[in-house]
Amino acid sequence: MSQHKVNQRAIRFRFLGWSRSLTVVAALLVITALFRLDLDSAVVQAQATLKGDPERGKAKAALCAACHGVAGVSINPLWPSLAGQQEQYLVKQIKAFRDREREEITMQPFVENLSDQDVADLAAFYAGLSPCP
Ligand code: HEC
Repeated sequence: MSQHKVNQRAIRFRFLGWSRSLTVVAALLVITALFRLDLDSAVVQAQATLKGDPERGKAKAALCAACHGVAGVSINPLWPSLAGQQEQYLVKQIKAFRDREREEITMQPFVENLSDQDVADLAAFYAGLSPCP
C-alpha cells in the first residue's frame, strides 16, 4: 500500500472519529433538552393541580369526619383536630401518610388512594375551618 493511501485512510479514520463524537454530543444535548422540557411541564402541571378547592375538599372529607369531626374538631384525645391548621402542613402530612413515610394504621386506609388533587382539596377545606376553641 502506498504511503499516500495510508495517510488518506488515517485522515478519514480521524474524521470519522470526530464526527462520531460530535453525533454523541449532539444526541446528549437533545436528550438533555427534552428532559428539561419534560421537567418544566411537570412542574407547571404540579403547580396547576396543587391549588386546593375547599368545596370539593368538603365533599371528600365525609369519611375523615368520622374521626376528625364534621367541622374538623375532634372529640377523641387521640385524634387531632384539623380545623384551621396550616394548609401546606396538611398537604405534607396527608401525603406522608399516603406514601407511608408517616406510619399510622388507623389513617392509612383512608388516604392511600388519594390523588395529589384530593389532598390539596382536603387541605384547603380543613385550613379554611375555624380552629377549635
Ligand atoms: C379512623 C379514624 C381516622 C380517619 C377516618 C381519618 N383519620 Fe386522620 N388521623 C387519625 C389519627 C389517629 C391521627 C393521628 C396519627 C398519629 O398519631 O400520628 C390522624 C392524623 C391526621 C393528620 C395529621 C395531623 C397532624 O397534626 O399532624 C391529618 C392531616 C389527617 N389525619 C387527615 C385525615 C384526612 C384528610 C382523612 C380523610 C381522608 C382522615 N384523616 C381520616 C385518625 C383518622
